[in-house]
Amino acid sequence: MSTPNTHHYIVYSSPAGTTAQAALTLSIVIEDATGREPVRIDLGAVARGETVLPETTFPACLWVGSPVYAKHAVPPVTRFLDQLPRAETGFAVPFVTWGGVSSGTALEEMAAQCHVKGYKLLGGAKVLSAHSSLWRETTPLGAGHPNNEDEGLLRILAERVLLKLDHLNADTWLAPELFSYQPPKEREASRNISMDTVKAHKPALELDTELCTQCGICAMSCPAGAISLEPWPTIGAACFCCDMCRRWCPTGALSRADANPGDRLRLMAAQRGEKPGTRILY
Ligand SMILES: Cc1cc2nc3c(=O)[nH]c(=O)nc-3n(C[C@H](O)[C@H](O)[C@H](O)COP(=O)(O)O)c2cc1C
Ligand code: SF4
Ligand code: SF4
Repeated sequence: MSTPNTHHYIVYSSPAGTTAQAALTLSIVIEDATGREPVRIDLGAVARGETVLPETTFPACLWVGSPVYAKHAVPPVTRFLDQLPRAETGFAVPFVTWGGVSSGTALEEMAAQCHVKGYKLLGGAKVLSAHSSLWRETTPLGAGHPNNEDEGLLRILAERVLLKLDHLNADTWLAPELFSYQPPKEREASRNISMDTVKAHKPALELDTELCTQCGICAMSCPAGAISLEPWPTIGAACFCCDMCRRWCPTGALSRADANPGDRLRLMAAQRGEKPGTRILY
C-alpha cells in the first residue's frame, strides 16, 4: 500500500474517449497501489448536468487530462483549471492526448495553471492517439494509438508519481518550465491559434430536418453540454467543434462541408515535424 493519506482526483474532458481511456489506466494503477479508487470526473458529464464536481479533500493529487485541440487544452479543461480553488496541500499531474499533428503547448499551459493554483507538479504525459477529427478514416494520423506501449508508459508514470508521494521532499516536484518541450517556432505557432480561430474557420454544422428524428443522441454525446432540443437540436456558444454530435447521429442529419481534413492535417504534421509518440515526464 502506498500514499494512504492522499486523495486522488482524475478530471478530464474526452469527446472521443481516448483521454478517458488514459484516465482509466491511471485510475487502475492508483487503486491497485493505494487500495482506494480515485474520484474520476468527466467534465462532459458535468457540462451536461449529469454529475457535479466534488469538493477537494486535501492532501490531494489532481490528475488532469485533456485532448490537444488547436495546440491547446480544450475549453472545459482550461475553464476547470481557471476556476480551481487554491490548493492547501496539492499535487498535480497534467496529461494530454494528441493526434499526431502537434501536441502544441497544451501540457505546459495546464502545468502552469496547476502551478499558479499552488499544486506541486509531480509528472505529466503526452499520449499519442488516433486523430479524432479523422474518425471517418480507417488509418487516421496516430492510428493504433494508444497501444500497449503507450499504456505501459502511463502505468510507469502513475507508479513513479505514487512513489514520489511516498517520499516527498523539495526535490520531488518539477518546475513548470520542464513541461515546455516545443521549439520556439512551434510555441510561436501555438500563440497564434486558438479554439476561436478554429471556430471561425470551420464550416458550421448543418442540420437536415428531413433526417433528424429529434432523438437527442447528439445532445447526450456533446462534451460541452452545448446542444439543446427546442425541439430541433440547437448548438450553443459552448461548442468546441469536436464533431461527436455528427459522429453519433444515427441518421446522418448533421453535416459540415469539410471534405478531406486528413490531407490538410497530414501536411501540417509533416511541417511540424514532432515525433509521433508518447512521452512521460516525472
Ligand atoms: C477540433 C479538433 C482539433 C484538434 N487539434 C489537434 C492538434 O492541434 N494537434 C493534434 O495533434 N491533434 C489534434 N486533435 C486530435 C486530438 O487531440 C486527439 O485525437 C485526442 O486524442 C482526442 O482525445 P479524446 O479521444 O479524448 O477526445 C484535434 C481534434 C479535434 C476534433
Ligand atoms: S442525433 Fe441526429 S437525429 Fe438525433 S436529434 Fe441529434 S441530429 Fe437529430
Ligand atoms: S455541439 Fe457537436 S461539435 Fe459542438 S461540442 Fe457539442 S458535440 Fe462537439
